Amino acid sequence: MNAYEAEYSKKTPTSARLFAESAKMHINGVSHNIRYFEPYPFVVKSSEGGCLIDVDGNRYTDYWMGHWSLIQGHAPKHVVRSLHDQLEDGWMYGAVNEQTIKLSKIISGAVPAAEKIRYTASGTEAVMYAARLARTHTKRDVIAKVDGGWHGYGSDLLKSVNWPFKEPESSGLVGADNIVSVPYNDLDATVKILSGCKSRLAGIIVEPVLGGAGGIPASAEYLAGVQEFVHGCGALFILDEIVTGFRFRYGCMYESMPLEPDVITLGKIIGGGMPVGAVCGADEIMAHADASSADRSYIGGGTFSANPASMTAGRVTLEYMRDNQSTYDRISSMGARARSGITGVLGDEAADVTGAGSIFMVHFAAPGKRHTGVRNAEQAASCDQDKLRQYHLKMIAQDGIFMLPGKMGAISSAHADGDIERLVAASEDFKRHRQ
Ligand SMILES: Cc1ncc(COP(=O)(O)O)c(C=O)c1O
Repeated sequence: MNAYEAEYSKKTPTSARLFAESAKMHINGVSHNIRYFEPYPFVVKSSEGGCLIDVDGNRYTDYWMGHWSLIQGHAPKHVVRSLHDQLEDGWMYGAVNEQTIKLSKIISGAVPAAEKIRYTASGTEAVMYAARLARTHTKRDVIAKVDGGWHGYGSDLLKSVNWPFKEPESSGLVGADNIVSVPYNDLDATVKILSGCKSRLAGIIVEPVLGGAGGIPASAEYLAGVQEFVHGCGALFILDEIVTGFRFRYGCMYESMPLEPDVITLGKIIGGGMPVGAVCGADEIMAHADASSADRSYIGGGTFSANPASMTAGRVTLEYMRDNQSTYDRISSMGARARSGITGVLGDEAADVTGAGSIFMVHFAAPGKRHTGVRNAEQAASCDQDKLRQYHLKMIAQDGIFMLPGKMGAISSAHADGDIERLVAASEDFKRHRQ
């Protein structure tokens, strides 16, 4: 056990005991693989604003923010009030409800490409539907994705997620031959690979900022070039905006690039932190979801899809962002300060501090390696992952700052300027006193 782990264990005895109990009933003690970290994850008791509070009473300034789904922090009062009222009226109708119509009016108003919307209970399902729509619409079978792209845990796209991007991520996958992966931010190489499967290509799915793979923005030229290529060969351009939708601006990121995606997947923020996903796009493409269509793409199962509680939390969250759009400027400038402040204090130790707007991620230079910035998942994976985990654990153990070890951080409107100063100071302390 290293010194950070020892300090962490000392302040989290109740978490240690409860987590040992959890591990008896749950594989690795968790239900989402990435929630486990060494020596054991703390157990959360409650949350408020920018903080998580664990069962030992430790407070952490939280930059994990519910898998980046909480743009207004934990339990904002206006969402609590609306959810409370909704719970009084029921939270699971399994039937058409007005709450869904209200949320869709907001999304349609902010995302012009969302001519039609179908909700799901998770982002994974939304992505699964997007791939199916592309195959139905084009009558082709290949879906392309970028190396390191995480689009959830569906059998189709669970390929080339983790370095070295060539091994299967799991046994039990189906149709992996129909998934082609391409290098992010390298247009020539991408076009070359896609040209090899042009006549079979149904679509490509890509995140405008690689989230799980390290908070790496795509260049506008890369996305525009990929879009031009796929449209030129009759395939669909699918943007996965599950992380980026309503994160950087009121609407999707594609409009600021500008791009013309055929299908968009949304999740996280649009449910205000409640379970949600959505696949949306042009009328003509979404029409395949019509149950009476002769050329039907089966889209629209899911017991919990469009449940009124998620729809309400999403609506209230988006209404707040619509009416307070300066929030985006504020959290983006905090993000810029976090990136430049951490870059300044880490100096050569950082291969790069990536991100955009309110998200940020440190990549530590691997020993003896010369890095010239991180522009794709391969470069991110070749950085010093162990140091990154130690950096995150140091902040959990010593500074009361939480980022899921190895994952990028997200700033919410509940964070304050002082939080960013403390984050930068903790980074400087890590460099100075690394154990
Ligand atoms: C870009 C992206 N797509 C899809 C998903 C899957 O969403 P969910 O976890 O809600 O199934 C995620 C989750 O982190 C994601 O980051």
